[in-house]
Amino acid sequence: MRKPKIIAIVGSLRKDSYNRQLAMAANEMVQDSAEFELLDFADVPLMNQDIEFPAPESVKRVREKIKAADGIWFFTPEHNHFFPGVLKNLIDWLSRPVSKVEPQVLAGKPAAISGISPGMSGTVLAQDHLVTLISLLNMDVMNSPRLTIPTAGQQLNEDGKLLLTSSAPYLEKQAQAFINYIMDRN
Ligand code: FNR
Repeated sequence: MRKPKIIAIVGSLRKDSYNRQLAMAANEMVQDSAEFELLDFADVPLMNQDIEFPAPESVKRVREKIKAADGIWFFTPEHNHFFPGVLKNLIDWLSRPVSKVEPQVLAGKPAAISGISPGMSGTVLAQDHLVTLISLLNMDVMNSPRLTIPTAGQQLNEDGKLLLTSSAPYLEKQAQAFINYIMDRN
């Protein structure tokens, strides 16, 4: 098989997001074995059935990206023990049929989940809720390994950049597991 194409979805719009930095670290790790692209969805509007058909251009664009992907890797923050609303909004759009004849684009797609938080939870509760949602949508979830990284503040340099000193080997392990998971299905 050609290199699998992985789309990364970061559930934070924050410029210095730890989860975006985690996704970028994953990108570097998989360079030789997978294509990796961060999904840009900042322009996807709030779900409103009044504007659902025809879908807004931003929604069409993200749907095409998902359709072309071999796997989806979520990097989620935790907001009030849940995954953030921006991620729920994106998934709500993706959960809807493309048209009367074309179903939603997430079903059957292999999915991996990682997350990092400044507190002790490491996003585990957010991830559990995300698994519930994407399982409902028939995504093919790799439940093990998942990656939950707590105490982000202890892995930063003086400029606030994530170093991932102790977590890098776990990220690398998960990346390899996800690539194998995708390849096994092709
Ligand atoms: C948070 N944060 C947070 N952290 C956590 O570990 N458990 C939680 O339940 C919450 N709840 C929460 C709610 C809201 C509304 C915000 C804005 C933040 C803190 C959060 O983990 C922190 O801001 C992270 O840095 C967010 O991830 P990114 O943007 O760095 O990827």
